[in-house]
Amino acid sequence: MLFKKSIPQLLAEANESGEGTLKRTLTSFNLVALGVGAIIGAGLFSLTGIASADNAGPAVILSFIIAAIGCGFAGLCYAEFASMIPVAGSAYTYSYATMGEFMAWIIGWDLVLEYALGSATVASSWSQYFSQFLLEFGIHFPQSLLHGPWEGGIVNLPAIIIVCLLSLLLMRGTKDSSSVNNVLVIVKVAVVLIFIILGWSFINPANHQPFIPVNPGEEAVKAGTKGFFEFFASDDFGHFGISGILRGAGVVFFAFIGFDAVSTAAQEAKNPQKGMPIGIIGSLIVCTLLYVLFSYVMTGLENYTKFAGDAKPVATAFAQTGYTFLNRFLMIAILAGYTSVILVLLLGQSRVFYSMSKDGLLPKVFSDLHPKNQTPWKTNLAFMVFVSIFAGFVPVSDLGHMVSIGTLFAFSLVCIGILILRKTDPELDRPFRTPWVPFVPIMGIIVCVLMMASLPIVSWERLAIWMALGVIIYMAYSKKHSKIRNAHQG
Ligand code: ALA
Repeated sequence: MLFKKSIPQLLAEANESGEGTLKRTLTSFNLVALGVGAIIGAGLFSLTGIASADNAGPAVILSFIIAAIGCGFAGLCYAEFASMIPVAGSAYTYSYATMGEFMAWIIGWDLVLEYALGSATVASSWSQYFSQFLLEFGIHFPQSLLHGPWEGGIVNLPAIIIVCLLSLLLMRGTKDSSSVNNVLVIVKVAVVLIFIILGWSFINPANHQPFIPVNPGEEAVKAGTKGFFEFFASDDFGHFGISGILRGAGVVFFAFIGFDAVSTAAQEAKNPQKGMPIGIIGSLIVCTLLYVLFSYVMTGLENYTKFAGDAKPVATAFAQTGYTFLNRFLMIAILAGYTSVILVLLLGQSRVFYSMSKDGLLPKVFSDLHPKNQTPWKTNLAFMVFVSIFAGFVPVSDLGHMVSIGTLFAFSLVCIGILILRKTDPELDRPFRTPWVPFVPIMGIIVCVLMMASLPIVSWERLAIWMALGVIIYMAYSKKHSKIRNAHQG
């Protein structure tokens, strides 16, 4: 038997108020800021340079557009769910209502990869920027304290410190965290705009030529001198040309991760029916526009070949403007940007575990709220430790791939959920309806699965191991303690 949560039951939970519940404090503006807070970060400031140098050249702009379209499909599905079931817990909760408890568990467990490991990934890159910033003042941070043991160091200490500080902030309260986040978001959007506006007049059109650098393998396929599969298996694939634009999309996909974090705060939104779609779609649109303009200016300021292996591509591009006195401000703002991403992802993670614990799938300690601040502070504490371990010791590229595969898996399941719920409960009140169903969810699934397929095989293996661990915990603990299951079985 499939144990599902009914939508009326979910809505009743969402409308609970008083002691032991989350406070409704977030406006639509806060929600868009939360989305932008989770989205713009390492993906834009680091990966744009990498994807243009290694994969797409100036056509990295097209990579951003493709990734945005993929996220847009999933985002529209998220928006329908989030407005219909505005309960903390996001994709986890939606699966509970559509695909039953086991799938809900799977997705909740999978979201740890997106939120917890996502914040660890960004914290890890944060520390690299931080050490560059110190260098501006002549301070050399010891290399051994910037990298974990697999990268020749001891520990990534600044990454651990930033995770701890932000976890403590989250324990203080969502409102405080949201206020800090608003400031960080303003600073980071300001730097993106300054970069675009000041950089615009320094664009050298020659840098945008050739817009799509040639891929010799692709040319050979076109000329009929090489077979497609031979090309597909070769190193040429994904290195400029059309295949480079596609692989670039897989790389910059990371830059869009986080828009769904808005939906984890549904239970704290003042008017979730309206606020959720605005928060999710709005932040996705704002970021896409900024990304396209930013990457256009960046590849126009400096030739894409110069970004190869560059740890500070934004500064390299900006150096062409002559406004170098702004460099320090730029770095502070980028650090602020990374900080808000870590903050919102940590927030999202704690809300997913909060929901899973409320349902009995995880021990009660994860939904205990602080008597004064009303935050799930014990969950924050647990993830402070968990995320610190990954941020401090695991190489950033390994983390990044795990985050992408986990997130794409979650997006696919949300799209499947929309297809199911339209069949099983067509009459439900949907304050926001995903347009063109089934086209949009099906396209969402296809794009996500294609992007998953472009990731290294080792990330698939790790995903399988993580999921197997999840299934063991489900069988050993969650199944026995599930409130829904126990209620059904008396
Ligand atoms: N989208 C987030 C970033 O780029 C995860 O940092």
